[in-house]
Amino acid sequence: MPKRQYLKNNDKKNICLVGFMGSGKTTVGKLLSKSLKFEFVDTDEKIEKENFMKIKDIFEDFGESFFRDLETKKIIELAKNKNQILSIGGGAFCFERNIKVLKENCLVFYINIPFDEIVSRLSKRQLNKRPLFHDLEKAEELFNKRQFYYQQADFILNASAKTSREIKKEIKNILIKL
Ligand code: S3P
Repeated sequence: MPKRQYLKNNDKKNICLVGFMGSGKTTVGKLLSKSLKFEFVDTDEKIEKENFMKIKDIFEDFGESFFRDLETKKIIELAKNKNQILSIGGGAFCFERNIKVLKENCLVFYINIPFDEIVSRLSKRQLNKRPLFHDLEKAEELFNKRQFYYQQADFILNASAKTSREIKKEIKNILIKL
């Protein structure tokens, strides 16, 4: 049977996964990348490698707005490519400048999971390496504020109580029907 070519007849040539910190973008993205034979690209990972620094240290040493500029530059650069699964940091889709580029070049999926469920799944170590997750009350406020932006995704997946494989399957089913 000939292999299916995803997004072949679509103007948008990439898939972008958005969602709050810890919503499983990386895990789902890697599964999807294998399944679709698209390259998996994580913007945070690229930023860390290219700057020889962990995100947490970039925040601490240079501040959040410096990080946001690096993030936007990376998104603009990557969005030009094709056949990628782009996993972006939880705050990236909350800036109009990023939303515009991403929506022009990617089909955007929001992995929607309730805040409490995210917290219960994350280990202490995972919470620690995310500077905006150090204070749970503030993180929940951020989560609520960000819903306005996340809702602008092309597809909103109700991912509550679902496994990463199930979410991957849902995305694939949507893509098949396009
Ligand atoms: C952030 C999310 C993080 C990382 C940075 C800021 C955010 O990525 O980009 O710590 O603002 O939500 P993950 O969503 O992969 O944790």
